[in-house]
Amino acid sequence: MAYGAKQSIAWNSNAAVGCGTGRNLAPLLEAVGAEGQVYGVDLSEGMLGEAKVLCTKDGWHNVELMRADAVDYVLPEPVDDAIFSLSYAVIPQHRDALRHAWNQLRQGGYLVIMDAKLPSGILGKLLHPFVVWTSKLTVLGNPDVRPWDELRELTGDVDYEEAQFGTYYICRARKR
Ligand SMILES: C[S@@+](CC[C@H](N)C(=O)[O-])C[C@H]1O[C@@H](n2cnc3c(N)ncnc32)[C@H](O)[C@@H]1O
Repeated sequence: MAYGAKQSIAWNSNAAVGCGTGRNLAPLLEAVGAEGQVYGVDLSEGMLGEAKVLCTKDGWHNVELMRADAVDYVLPEPVDDAIFSLSYAVIPQHRDALRHAWNQLRQGGYLVIMDAKLPSGILGKLLHPFVVWTSKLTVLGNPDVRPWDELRELTGDVDYEEAQFGTYYICRARKR
């Protein structure tokens, strides 16, 4: 099923790992509904400050923001869904963060990773050195990280899709 398609699954709680300024929280709130709970985890005080302003402005009362490292945050409950949106490839210990998020998922829950990527083929090869250089100076993620392969080390049940002419991907695994 395409990720954009409506699903009849009711989530109770989810977690955005590396939630940043909270721009990706709106669809997570929509997924859990008014009674659900969203957890936003980020290492940066500044990012969380902006996320807090956004939550207050938009009246998002069921968001709990926590300042913690993606490798060792503690949620008050296992969640139905965890997402790394534009954050996975900037986390230095991403494999540890992945395993940590996986361990905090409920049975049947989904772990989702969405990020930018280099296009395949000659264009990607040409851009690679520039992106590696830029990623050292900015918050651009490491282009050599392959989360879909890292997810496959946890489960064989991984979906992968590309968008925007191969410059973005979304991969997803379900915890059985
Ligand atoms: C490019 S921002 C993405 C923000 C947001 N998810 C979005 O989609 O707009 C990446 C975020 O990951 C956070 N981050 C980087 N390393 C982290 C770590 N080890 N633990 C938690 N958050 C981390 C950064 O502080 C930053 O807010």
